[in-house]
Amino acid sequence: MSVYSKLYEGKAKILYATDDPEILLADFKDDATAFNAQKRGSILGKGRINCSISSQLFQQLEASGIKTHYIDSPSPNQMRVKAVKILPLEVVIRNIAAGSLCQQTGIELGTVLKQPLVEFYYKNDQLGDPLLTSDRLLLMELATVEQVNAITHLALQINDFLKVFWQRCGITLVDFKLEFGLDSQQQLLLADEISPDTCRLWNTTETDPNRRVLDKDRFRRDLGNVEDAYQEVLQRVLQAVEIK
Ligand code: C5P
Repeated sequence: MSVYSKLYEGKAKILYATDDPEILLADFKDDATAFNAQKRGSILGKGRINCSISSQLFQQLEASGIKTHYIDSPSPNQMRVKAVKILPLEVVIRNIAAGSLCQQTGIELGTVLKQPLVEFYYKNDQLGDPLLTSDRLLLMELATVEQVNAITHLALQINDFLKVFWQRCGITLVDFKLEFGLDSQQQLLLADEISPDTCRLWNTTETDPNRRVLDKDRFRRDLGNVEDAYQEVLQRVLQAVEIK
């Protein structure tokens, strides 16, 4: 497969066209950003680690019947994906209160939510990815009612699957962000990535609020040992996949 032009460079990935218009190549970068790119840095090996973790998780999700954009991973930091039109939505699913939920509501960090919370944010860097109400989402025509219902249903299904998967890794899935896209047949596919960049992952057996963090919060909050945490997550994912 020959690789053509660079189509898009995001904060964590570069997307290339290929000789097949239905297939793109995603190149995962070591660059790290936080707080809408106000904080920038690099996490050594992150591209390879996040691509490997995402590849494993997409394969597991596909096997459980969830349609994703994943095709294969031709090298450790590259993923071949189906070309989709990404919906401008960041879908956040929360099981335990953390991050912006605590900041905006006063709910105490670590509170276990009675049921998963599904939230929609407008994917727009200039506006700082604001939280949407469903009325605003429909007003702005970011998705149809049917798409919102389908996404909510899929997000909860993915959460059920991932909670169990991460549990097998000795990791508690606190919250995570998903993105969805439409393929050429207007079919809704899970897209982007699922990795320590996009999930809050706590080491289940660790009670210390800083030491338990195995995700991008280590970078956001300058907790140190960022690379080690990402590597640890990858090791646990590979072990869980092998044991299955
Ligand atoms: O910051 P907040 O608490 O809203 O983040 C919720 C979840 O969504 C976290 O797991 C975070 O890593 C993820 N997220 C993301 N990309 C964003 C915003 C949040 O991956 N732009």
